[in-house]
Amino acid sequence: MDLKSQIDQNRLPKHVAIIMDGNGRWAKQRGRPRTFGHKQGVTSVRETTEAAAELGIEYLTLYAFSTENWKRPKFETDALMALLLQTINKETKTLNKNNIRLRTIGDIESLPARIRKQLEKAIEDTAGNTRMTLLLALSYSSRWELLNAVKKITGRVQEGELKVEDLNQDVFAQYLETAEVPDPELLIRTSGEYRISNFLLWQIAYAELYFTTKLWPDFRKDDLYKALIDFQNRERRFGKISEQIKAE
Ligand code: IPE
Ligand code: IPE
Ligand code: MG
Repeated sequence: MDLKSQIDQNRLPKHVAIIMDGNGRWAKQRGRPRTFGHKQGVTSVRETTEAAAELGIEYLTLYAFSTENWKRPKFETDALMALLLQTINKETKTLNKNNIRLRTIGDIESLPARIRKQLEKAIEDTAGNTRMTLLLALSYSSRWELLNAVKKITGRVQEGELKVEDLNQDVFAQYLETAEVPDPELLIRTSGEYRISNFLLWQIAYAELYFTTKLWPDFRKDDLYKALIDFQNRERRFGKISEQIKAE
């Protein structure tokens, strides 16, 4: 049986998040510059997005550039920004064709103006699409997001628009970049690194974590299917005991 048909359509996660890692090492293995790996990574983005939409996953979040990635050599961050611009230009049509809506999470203000504009246009052009939402994490870090939420909340409290006693987890989540988006049930990281790297710390409280040694440029539809099959074979207990879950 092929991998895709082993997936139970009725137990799909609504939201899958991916830390796309390993582009640099993939290129290095081939004696090429790191930027070559980033370029190849776009194919994996395309394949994964298509696979997720075909399956009926509602939200796909891809960690494309972290706040900390700004610390990389300028040559590399410039190349990544150029690639981002080129990719948005090229792929907006495909997103529309596939009925996929684009959104971003992260400090978009910190991106070069022309990229921000292009992103805003792509977001607007795809706003009416309903099959899947693709969230690109750009200049994103979870601590930035959490601190930002606290700043917004304290501002509202100071203005008398929010009472401290009305603050709860649901209200707090509305101040995050992912407001209105359900928490990811599955988080995938490629490249054999076993860490979270400042990604969705609040949102992954109960996510299932899936690590693969595949480098991102080698990640294909089948790799997503494998992660989903693995996910569906786990028992998610949320603090309860197995017997309670089985009785539900
Ligand atoms: C992931 O690949 C892409 C970004 C973080 C932008 P890397 O560039 O981190 O590749 P490795 O981890 O060095 O191999
Ligand atoms: C995490 O990858 C960020 C993205 C995939 C965009 P990194 O390669 O930056 O993570 P670390 O630095 O190895 O933890
Ligand atoms: Mg890396």
